[in-house]
Amino acid sequence: MSILKTVANNSLRPLKGEGKKLFIETYGCQMNAGDSEIVVSIMQQEGYRYTESIDEADIILINTCSIRDNAEQRIWGRLSEMRRLRKRKPSLIVGIIGCMAERLNEQLLESECGVDIVAGPDAYRDLPTLARTAEGGDKGINVELSKEETYAEIAPVRLDKNGVTGFVSIMRGCNNYCSYCVVPYTRGIERSRDPHTIVAEARTLFENGYREVTLLGQNVNSYRSGDVDFPELMAMVAEISPLLRVRFATSHPKDISDALLEVMARYDNICKSIHLPAQSGSNEMLKKMNRKYTREWYLERIAAIRRYMPDCAITTDLIAGFCGETEEDHAQTLSLMREVGYASAFMFKYSERPGTFSARHFEDDIEDGEKTRRLNEIIALQNSLSVASNEAEIGKLREVLVEGTSKRSDAQLCGRTSQNKMVVFDRHDHQPGDYVMLRITGCSSATLFGEVVEQ
Ligand code: SAH
Ligand code: SF4
Ligand code: F3S
Repeated sequence: MSILKTVANNSLRPLKGEGKKLFIETYGCQMNAGDSEIVVSIMQQEGYRYTESIDEADIILINTCSIRDNAEQRIWGRLSEMRRLRKRKPSLIVGIIGCMAERLNEQLLESECGVDIVAGPDAYRDLPTLARTAEGGDKGINVELSKEETYAEIAPVRLDKNGVTGFVSIMRGCNNYCSYCVVPYTRGIERSRDPHTIVAEARTLFENGYREVTLLGQNVNSYRSGDVDFPELMAMVAEISPLLRVRFATSHPKDISDALLEVMARYDNICKSIHLPAQSGSNEMLKKMNRKYTREWYLERIAAIRRYMPDCAITTDLIAGFCGETEEDHAQTLSLMREVGYASAFMFKYSERPGTFSARHFEDDIEDGEKTRRLNEIIALQNSLSVASNEAEIGKLREVLVEGTSKRSDAQLCGRTSQNKMVVFDRHDHQPGDYVMLRITGCSSATLFGEVVEQ
């Protein structure tokens, strides 16, 4: 009944977009990149046409990030540039969507930059209606968070387009409430997407020539839908084809289980690379951060990873200068880094986010100059660890999945190893999507170089 009704409605109702052109600009993490693809899909169904040129856009959506203050500052800068575009095209609609929309909601409408639409991460189905409101001269706002929304049945319009590697969102929100983090407030409570829709989306990617999927969520290893937990979901996706590589991001150290490590070890096509954000090496800081594990627990999990997969690359996120961090706490972070020997890391200065537990209860007492010094020490150490990790690859045989042409030369291709390291090598007659066996012959701090091994 309800399906018939929708069809009838659709056939009578003119599409709202009427061929208007939509441009979307994305900041922040992969979740936002995935959401932009959902947004384009929703808007296209309403008759909007996607354009890659901002100058011909009738509607511009900016998908925003609130994770650190500098992320928001960048977006304010971008917003003020929208005024110039508006002068040229007074009918232009500008919308702010994503995490900053959720965090600031009405404040954005009041800004001088001229924002017409504000939509939070769970309100994207409402975007066509909000756009219509804005086209009528009013402001459209929806920042309602949902307990259920996963956009499960919406087929994303792939915008990244190397045609080889794609992302599949498996859950939304976060329940962890790390004390420094804004994400639980901007993205709401954790919910897992139906596993069958996940497998169907991954299979469609494979059938369209994609050879790698990354399963995405803020804390993927707490995925659960009915009887299906994350290890089981990984196995289901890995079973699609041995030619389809599977990765995931991000996992929380507190629940990286042996069951998951066992599944990862069992399937050759599950990549041997784990991003396991430590944040700090000091138990004192980990406790204040509400990370729910200790340094000892973390190191035991690293040992477990090495037991199951001696060849697995481990990467991390680190925060310098969290509230009350002493020199000794900082030294503990450096020693943790040495002990694990991270292949690479994302490293940040602590940035206080209004409304979070640490903003309400702790003092942001480390001076900016001091934060910078600690961060620089962390970065310098990581550079030497990255070089060491790359040098250890020299002489090894590694299979890469070719992603595209090297940035420096058309005669060379680039692809990633299972450990997620980028390798540049001579093209021969290979192409994106091929698996190629290479011998690693050299490296810089960021890239490996390899030679094709004839088989
Ligand atoms: N859900 C993922 C990552 C979320 S955000 C996880 O928990 O692993 C990515 C990274 O940003 C975090 O791992 C953390 O290192 C950093 N981050 C988050 N909030 C921050 C803040 N207030 N200041 C500085 N860095 C922050
Ligand atoms: Fe933020 Fe922690 Fe959730 Fe990651 S796990 S998104 S750091 S609250
Ligand atoms: Fe930023 Fe939101 Fe992702 S705050 S890091 S875009 S979840």
